[in-house]
Amino acid sequence: MSRSPATTDPIQVSAQPSELLPACLDPARLPAHVAVIMDGNGRWARRRRLPRMMGHREGVEALKRTLRLCSDWGIGALTVYAFSTENWSRPGEEVTFLMSLFERVLARELQALERERVRIRFLGDLEQLPEGLQERIAAAEARTAANTGIHFNICTNYGGRRELVQAARRLAEQAARGELDPAAIDEAHFEAELLTAGEVDPDLLIRSSGEYRISNFLLWQLAYAEIHITDVLWPDFNEQALLRAVLDYQGRQRRFGGVEPLLLPDA
Ligand code: IPE
Ligand code: IPE
Ligand code: MG
Repeated sequence: MSRSPATTDPIQVSAQPSELLPACLDPARLPAHVAVIMDGNGRWARRRRLPRMMGHREGVEALKRTLRLCSDWGIGALTVYAFSTENWSRPGEEVTFLMSLFERVLARELQALERERVRIRFLGDLEQLPEGLQERIAAAEARTAANTGIHFNICTNYGGRRELVQAARRLAEQAARGELDPAAIDEAHFEAELLTAGEVDPDLLIRSSGEYRISNFLLWQLAYAEIHITDVLWPDFNEQALLRAVLDYQGRQRRFGGVEPLLLPDA
């Protein structure tokens, strides 16, 4: 994992010597879980008259920067969207490139991830991935399972609707076997069947490349996430862009359906 380059932007990035969190961020109000829709690799490449694949390759560098920053800043979990169940509809050449890129990057980065105590997990229908990639994933998950650092979840062949359907099916199977009373099914039962079981819901969703949509990502889990959309294309995403996202998050008032505390009569 590499450090992000220095920035000339007006926002000051001043890491404290003991704590790597930039001074302008409130450590008490950090998002515990950040989710990212890493979009815009193709447009990044097209602007440079490069093949789309070069955008994906640069996108990996942005992901490494983001993981390192989240880990350094003390964010507990980072969940990224790497390949959706709909992305199979892309040209075969691009899909093949992406699968081999995932495999190569995982092989190359595993040692560094272990060193950084990252716990890595791949969320999605993994059986449909090439066998070599499945093997690398199984090894990486096993080797980092006991790590106590940041939870790094990579959604690969992931679709929010498919995840919900599979959860419903598993609950139905338990009910059919007589292990679960359908009337007793509640949100906790449902959550326990999701691929993110055991993880807190994302507090902050970042989408790069200026698209205002969810694209079938974490449909259940994002129910109350704060959404930050940036025009920055994913390969250009850096410390300054992450800082802007977290500052934006820290400026939000989360109400979860309630009212602003100051407006309560007895406040
Ligand atoms: C995101 O970048 C990466 C994946 C979906 C795999 P895109 O490839 O979607 O880039 P654009 O949206 O075409 O620019
Ligand atoms: C979402 O990006 C999926 C990933 C980032 C992996 P897409 O580029 O596939 O989404 P749409 O097609 O613009 O909605
Ligand atoms: Mg896209």
